[in-house]
Amino acid sequence: MKITVIGAGYVGLVSAACFAEIGNEVMCVEKISSKLDTLKKGESPIYEPGLSEVLKRNISENRITFTDNMDDAIHFGEAIFLCVGTPQSETGKADLSQVEEAARQIAQMATSYKLVIEKSTVPVNTNKWVKRTLERYAKDGVDFDVASNPEFLREGSALEDFMKPDRIVVGVESERAEKIFRELYKPFTDQGYPLLVTNTAAAELIKHASNSFLALKISYINMVSDLCEKVGADVELVAEGMGLDKRIGRQFLNAGLGYGGSCFPKDVKAFVKIAEENGLDFALLRETDCLNEERRPKFIEKIEEILWINKNKTIAVWGLAFKPNTDDVREAPAIDIVNALSDSGATLNMYDPKATETFKTVVPEADNMSYCANAYEALEGADALIVLTEWEEFKEADLAKVKSMLKLPIIIDGRNLYDPKEMKKQGFEYYCMGR
Ligand code: UGA
Repeated sequence: MKITVIGAGYVGLVSAACFAEIGNEVMCVEKISSKLDTLKKGESPIYEPGLSEVLKRNISENRITFTDNMDDAIHFGEAIFLCVGTPQSETGKADLSQVEEAARQIAQMATSYKLVIEKSTVPVNTNKWVKRTLERYAKDGVDFDVASNPEFLREGSALEDFMKPDRIVVGVESERAEKIFRELYKPFTDQGYPLLVTNTAAAELIKHASNSFLALKISYINMVSDLCEKVGADVELVAEGMGLDKRIGRQFLNAGLGYGGSCFPKDVKAFVKIAEENGLDFALLRETDCLNEERRPKFIEKIEEILWINKNKTIAVWGLAFKPNTDDVREAPAIDIVNALSDSGATLNMYDPKATETFKTVVPEADNMSYCANAYEALEGADALIVLTEWEEFKEADLAKVKSMLKLPIIIDGRNLYDPKEMKKQGFEYYCMGR
């Protein structure tokens, strides 16, 4: 099938690459010229395991091309995926100006039927606005369908999530649109992956409701974790005990610094707003958001309880990305934590396996803030180590070496990477979350 993808951000690029990988012909639009040049060379502008290899292969086999020419792109595919940004506006509402602009351009340029598919996360009933925009600006006699096909890709494992989905959700309003989706996703349904067909509003809701529910699970376990600290229980065991119940499940019950990234913080706020606009107070999610925002100041308090005074102390920081296996630092807990520690007079030696360069654009190097080439370099002369992202590299660190390099054997772990008993045996003063 010929497919057009508008927007080579995270969702657009991974989807475009994977649609090409399963045999479709894909044209992907990117407006930023430096990014377009990178993509044309077959390089990925973001770090995502496996993505560069898939891009290179499909470029060389002519299944994927990149362009900044909307006209060419709109004529190319019958199915057009909207993967443009839907950032959060000041009120918490999603800013849909890029969706509107893309819809308008499609309407003005299309000369034959197009299935316009929302893939970016959008508020419920955005499809009605997209449809109205298409109809307003369309050439006479050109038909459109609008559909929703939300993505459930996690950064760091996006290719695997695409290729082995828990479910594929498509929201359609016509048989013609459903038929196109059934053909597009046949390689998956043939392997037994479930395809759920709904109307468009339900598909839009499934995305927001799923992300918000996962965020709720995280805030829930973080609250339980605080309670564990008070009563002397281990949150890891509590989560295990809860998770063995299949109705609850163990995933997304990892206590720690709370959720970050470009999705959960934004989507929870947007979902609260959507409810509000429909006369409902989603207090449960407002609280989810508040609990999450408290995680960072609480962790800073914990550091102060342990170190007493931060001024003139050197702190090694392991992990800057919002989660492992990505170089993305959007809404990363590390940003607030590092800035607060710096404001309180500490010197920071920071290290992340992949996110150093992106983090530097948000927190520039300064007299008291330096970026290190490897994990051990960050430890030199440090009074304590704090762990902010659960990279595998940190789990596998040589703890004897860590101990010998730190001035004091203090580790404050925001992600529960190590076994407290083992750490005690190794001679560490080890602090973690909810244990
Ligand atoms: C999330 C969803 O998991 C995807 O299904 C969805 O497609 C995506 O948002 C999106 O809307 O585009 P992502 O933000 O990449 O994916 O990462 P997650 O693995 O969901 O983690 C989000 C945040 O929650 C991270 O900061 C992570 O550290 C935190 N988290 C996750 C916890 O604090 N505890 C957990 O148990 C799990």
